[in-house]
Amino acid sequence: MENSFDLVAKEWDDKPERKAQIEEIARVLERELQFSPSDLILDYGCGTGLMGFRLIDKVGEVTFCDTSEGMLGQVAQKLENNGSGKGKIVKADYSKTDLAKETFDKIITVKVLHHVEDLMPLLKNFHRSLKPGGWLCCVDLEKEDGSFHDGEHVPHKGFERAVFENWLVDAGFLPQYYSNEIISEKERDGVLKQYRVFVSLARK
Ligand SMILES: C[S@@+](CC[C@H](N)C(=O)[O-])C[C@H]1O[C@@H](n2cnc3c(N)ncnc32)[C@H](O)[C@@H]1O
Repeated sequence: MENSFDLVAKEWDDKPERKAQIEEIARVLERELQFSPSDLILDYGCGTGLMGFRLIDKVGEVTFCDTSEGMLGQVAQKLENNGSGKGKIVKADYSKTDLAKETFDKIITVKVLHHVEDLMPLLKNFHRSLKPGGWLCCVDLEKEDGSFHDGEHVPHKGFERAVFENWLVDAGFLPQYYSNEIISEKERDGVLKQYRVFVSLARK
């Protein structure tokens, strides 16, 4: 069944601010974490794979996972052009099905979690599928008034740091780093509104 992200997949990369923000986030990740040529990475809710492709040359393999066929179609095209053989595509919703145990060195999820109704099963699944000492990198919106999605229903209007980090702890993680210096801007009612984006790094 087609979902709302299928409809926007082909034009997703046309907005330069999307790539610019991925670059900002990648710089924080590279500043705070070591990426190695042996790393197995899961880009969860990868969309068109902007983050995974940003990192692919520095790591061993990127698994691009999403629930949208349209988004994954874009990833497939990019992988053909990339030609490194270091990318894998999986269509799955890991808030509902189990991930393989102790597989990944790092799991990165950018602006996905606010779309996931039931987060605890997903966070526990991420924990189970990281190798010991592995990192969960969550990037998402800080608590907002609901205007970010312009009236469209999403399960979470961003997150509060204390609540989010409690969930990480409940899922077995040790929160290690949190920053909220990245800003997304959207025009709402003729005014440019700013939304804070957080980067949360937690260790297994
Ligand atoms: C706002 S987009 C972000 C895409 C990409 N991470 C980026 O930053 O460009 C959210 C993505 O999460 C995916 N998604 C939504 N719910 C999901 C779920 N339960 N499991 C996996 N992916 C999901 C959507 O299909 C969409 O591609």
